[in-house]
Amino acid sequence: MRHFLTLKEFSKEEILEIINLAIKIKAETKQGELKPYLKNKTLGMIFEKSSTRTRVSFEVGIYQLGGVGLFLSNKDIQLGRGEPVSDTARVISRMVDMVMIRTFSQSMIEEFAKYSKVPVINGLTDEFHPIQLLADYMTMIEHKKDKNPIVAYVGDGNNMTHSWAILASKLGFELRVATPNGYEIDSELLKNLDLSNIKISNNPKEAVANADVVTTDTWISMGQEDEKEKRIKDFEGFIVDNSLMNLAKKDAIFLHCLPAYRGKEVSEEIIEGAKSVVFDEAENRLHAQKGLMVWLDSKRNN
Ligand code: CP
Ligand code: NVA
Repeated sequence: MRHFLTLKEFSKEEILEIINLAIKIKAETKQGELKPYLKNKTLGMIFEKSSTRTRVSFEVGIYQLGGVGLFLSNKDIQLGRGEPVSDTARVISRMVDMVMIRTFSQSMIEEFAKYSKVPVINGLTDEFHPIQLLADYMTMIEHKKDKNPIVAYVGDGNNMTHSWAILASKLGFELRVATPNGYEIDSELLKNLDLSNIKISNNPKEAVANADVVTTDTWISMGQEDEKEKRIKDFEGFIVDNSLMNLAKKDAIFLHCLPAYRGKEVSEEIIEGAKSVVFDEAENRLHAQKGLMVWLDSKRNN
């Protein structure tokens, strides 16, 4: 049995297997074929933070695969009133076939996985957002037809950045990360990875020069609302706008995991412009996670 917790625990071959499965299931879905790969299976979905895309894509995804999803908000389940994670994991995993969790600390998910009898999927933590990267990579290869593009990430060194770094390390494409001073990625979270193809700086222009893919994320992640004013000041000069995007290759694409804050990390003209593929990227959350769930289930049966 396998869990999907950080992407670090996956090989390049396994990541590509999941992506290829997602591409196949997407094609089938587009032809109107909803094959019941997970007939009568149940997915528990624990949410301790808000979500639009993750919730809808998992719930619709499991349904399209022939199963059913249970939305479990921590406002409604006993976990939110202090029931131990270890008990919650042992109870829920005796009843469902897979669990997805969106929470604050990575250690909560790791603990849940330790006690779970079924695969656990990280649906975002403060440290990582690995499922988003499956959709992002899928979108990148659909639009770029190039499996080795240069990717520039401009903005906060956050959960998205860590997951980009892990994906780049696994797949070998060049990743350039430009964050403001004091907002760099946490290298502790990336220890033991080969980071030789990852360039870290505080210079957005240098990062974006000649890139194939430009991406960013909110400057204020969930849980950081109190730092909003300070962050907006500290991130001055890190907006992805026309003048920055023009430094990338002419046919570069713009990715953003969404939700996006126009006028902060990205300008209106970029997110609504011809280079933006953010809604294809959002749709690919559905397809990528269907691939992931079918893959995890197949490992469970082996
Ligand atoms: N990108 C993403 O995970 O979106 P949600 O927060 O809406 O799930
Ligand atoms: N970095 C953001 C991603 C939202 C999908 C956050 O954690 O809020």
